[in-house]
Amino acid sequence: MHMDKYENGFLWLSGIMLGAFAISVLISVAGLNIHLPGESGQIDPAAVDADPDFGNPGLRQIRPGVYEAYLTLGDWQYSPAKIEIPVGSQVTFYLTSKDVIHGFKVFDTNINVMVIPGQISQVQHTFNQPGTYQFYCHEYCGALHHTMTGQVVVTGAK
Ligand code: CUA
Repeated sequence: MHMDKYENGFLWLSGIMLGAFAISVLISVAGLNIHLPGESGQIDPAAVDADPDFGNPGLRQIRPGVYEAYLTLGDWQYSPAKIEIPVGSQVTFYLTSKDVIHGFKVFDTNINVMVIPGQISQVQHTFNQPGTYQFYCHEYCGALHHTMTGQVVVTGAK
């Protein structure tokens, strides 16, 4: 089969790029431990307050340096809107919405997840630098979307 020199070259280039992309995905998953935030369960949005975990949202210490944070989202608010942890803490966030689709994006981290009514979103991060990490809703959710914010305060010296 006759193939133009440039056509042949670009086919090779495309093939090499596909290979490079596949390798970079494998390195991200296996080497850098980067995963998509996942759903970790389902919940009736109307029964969130009756749930043993989400009914009393907040931070729980599992053991020194390891925390779970249960957050409910609704009425353009995070509950709780402020979380305080010592530096070096690993926090697993569980989030669910009581009304519409919201978002959870924490500045200066790779936390970025949609929060969908009926679903429980789970995302984990280790806060190795002290400071105040703002979080905000990045899914347009209505009139007061722009006011939907909160913060993770990481205390102590490293
Ligand atoms: Cu919640 Cu935008």
